[in-house]
Amino acid sequence: ASVGKDGYRHYMEKELHEHPVVIGQTLQRLVDPATRRVVMPDLPFDLAAIPRVVLTACGSAFYAGMIGRYWIEQYARLPVDIDVASEMRYRNPPLAKDGLGLLISQSGETADTLAALRGMRAAGQHIVSVLNVEQSSMARESDAVLGTVAGPEISVASTKAFTAQLSVLACLTIALGRARGLITAQQEEGMVTALLDLPSKATEVFERHDEIRRMATIVADARDVLYLGRGAMFPVALEGALKLKEITYIHAEAYAAGEMKHGPISLIDSTVPVVATVPSGPLFEKTLSNLQEAKARGGRLLVFTDMAGAPRLREIAECVVAIPTVDEFVAPILQTIPVQILAYEVALLKGTDVDQPRNLAKSVTVE
Ligand code: G6P
Repeated sequence: ASVGKDGYRHYMEKELHEHPVVIGQTLQRLVDPATRRVVMPDLPFDLAAIPRVVLTACGSAFYAGMIGRYWIEQYARLPVDIDVASEMRYRNPPLAKDGLGLLISQSGETADTLAALRGMRAAGQHIVSVLNVEQSSMARESDAVLGTVAGPEISVASTKAFTAQLSVLACLTIALGRARGLITAQQEEGMVTALLDLPSKATEVFERHDEIRRMATIVADARDVLYLGRGAMFPVALEGALKLKEITYIHAEAYAAGEMKHGPISLIDSTVPVVATVPSGPLFEKTLSNLQEAKARGGRLLVFTDMAGAPRLREIAECVVAIPTVDEFVAPILQTIPVQILAYEVALLKGTDVDQPRNLAKSVTVE
């Protein structure tokens, strides 16, 4: 069936607006709203017995996986090895017996991810794939599929599939933590409640559209842009930089904020905007001091934060986009949305072919 743009200018714009719905639909499959508990599909192995996770993907799906690693380590206390699939497939890493091989892909057809899946299977891993297209090559070769209910994604640059992937990974994290006796029923209820609140909070992000547009006018004039974030916000920065490169052809680089002083700080001057994602939370002060370092070198600070973090950031940043404050656990899901909208708004100013950027393919089925 052909999919229309429903009055939006581009598929990307339409798909950005689908974030709230897609998060809700994806969660519906994995949580019981009455008990506020995660309900995993039947798996042909015991989650409690997993000694280790090996995770791989390409592109945006890889960045979703990086956030997944952060969660699985933090809340389920399981070691996670992660790499892009084009590296993982040739690395031949030593894998734990009966480990979990976790693959993430919108299409289920990406050649490198599929090859990595096969390598993990040959190395005796249980294979779980997080897929949007459930009738796909990767689906057929997995022990279990956790579906992202994002619907068809037409825009070459991925948007809604990303928050759907994160929604699945968040539920898997809870299931792993619970199976390992590390997440109590009460904690689970809190985490699930935070997830179930996301669709309405995600809708509120679109109320910040004017501020994001203002930010876009500054980014559109730049030749290089530096994206920063710490912890689970580092992959959000990577996703923001990737989206900007893909659809606006502006060079962008994402750095873990604390690593900035080991390199990119030398690039900072008034012509290089610094886009940072800094919601309130345990890493807030640390990231703030990194931003102060950038400002001291003349950097223009464009900051994504939440309501709780906004007052402090308004003192130092040129633009502040404050979205709803949510539980630290789910913050990376919400913070991704304005970062993707920024890339879209810059592309509009640049007049690029948003849905079909040059040289890129929606699904890369050759090596
Ligand atoms: C291409 C797309 C990206 C996507 C990546 C992985 O590069 O342009 O948007 O993230 O492939 O695709 P997959 O289907 O495996 O998620």
